[in-house]
Amino acid sequence: MRLDPRPIGVFDSGIGGLTVVKEIMEFLPNENIVYFGDTARVPYGSKSAETVIRFAFQNTRFLLTKDVKAIVVACNTASAVALKMLQESFDVPIIGVISPGANAAVKATKNKKIGIIGTEGTINSRAYEKEIKRLLPDAEIFAYPCPLFVPIVEEGWANTKVSYMVAEEYLKPLKASLIDSLVMGCTHYPLLTKVVDDVLDHKVKLINPARETAIELKNILIQNGIENKEDALGQYEYYVSDNPEKFKRVGGNFLEHDIINIKKIDIEK
Ligand code: SIN
Repeated sequence: MRLDPRPIGVFDSGIGGLTVVKEIMEFLPNENIVYFGDTARVPYGSKSAETVIRFAFQNTRFLLTKDVKAIVVACNTASAVALKMLQESFDVPIIGVISPGANAAVKATKNKKIGIIGTEGTINSRAYEKEIKRLLPDAEIFAYPCPLFVPIVEEGWANTKVSYMVAEEYLKPLKASLIDSLVMGCTHYPLLTKVVDDVLDHKVKLINPARETAIELKNILIQNGIENKEDALGQYEYYVSDNPEKFKRVGGNFLEHDIINIKKIDIEK
């Protein structure tokens, strides 16, 4: 039996990537995880592709110092603009969230009208749209950026009046579009699932790319023979570039367990 206890590295611009970590924890409970949340530089979604690529390379190099055996780019914006370059530049398997999310949307839709919400960077890259069209050429796509969703989640305001007011505005055009499925194309958005579902009157299937990403990760580990078949529960380490206390509070609530093993690092060094 093969044992590879080296951790899986996951990075995101902030706490949103914990939506992906949560799925990995549930789906691959004996894998160890090192998470990096770039809380000093969040959001990535409104920054240029050039800047996001630079951040993605720094984050990857940091995770590699932790001897990770595979990397998940949990951030949709970084997946959209940097994944291919990362895969071409490093030896470990690296996966993103766009292709798993597009796959899940194509499986879910019945009427081929698919909505996508994400950051400006993700929507402008058209990465989801291209991947969905590749899989389902006659799909009709309705894509809208929702830039205020990320700071609302980072602030811990996911289920407040503010998030409902903002969601009402952003989702207005989607209500009229007759979509039957909607890709929550940003790591942070699954924390707003209830809000988005309420605003869309429970009529649209919400796609969280995180679950499909965990499934793809498992396949990659099997293909590369690097699963951890150890009979122990995974150990988790967290790193942030700013304010561990806020990350612990908001992230701990979301993961439903205490975040203890957390350190602040200087990612620019
Ligand atoms: C952001 O940093 O703007 C959000 C993360 C994402 O794109 O998933």
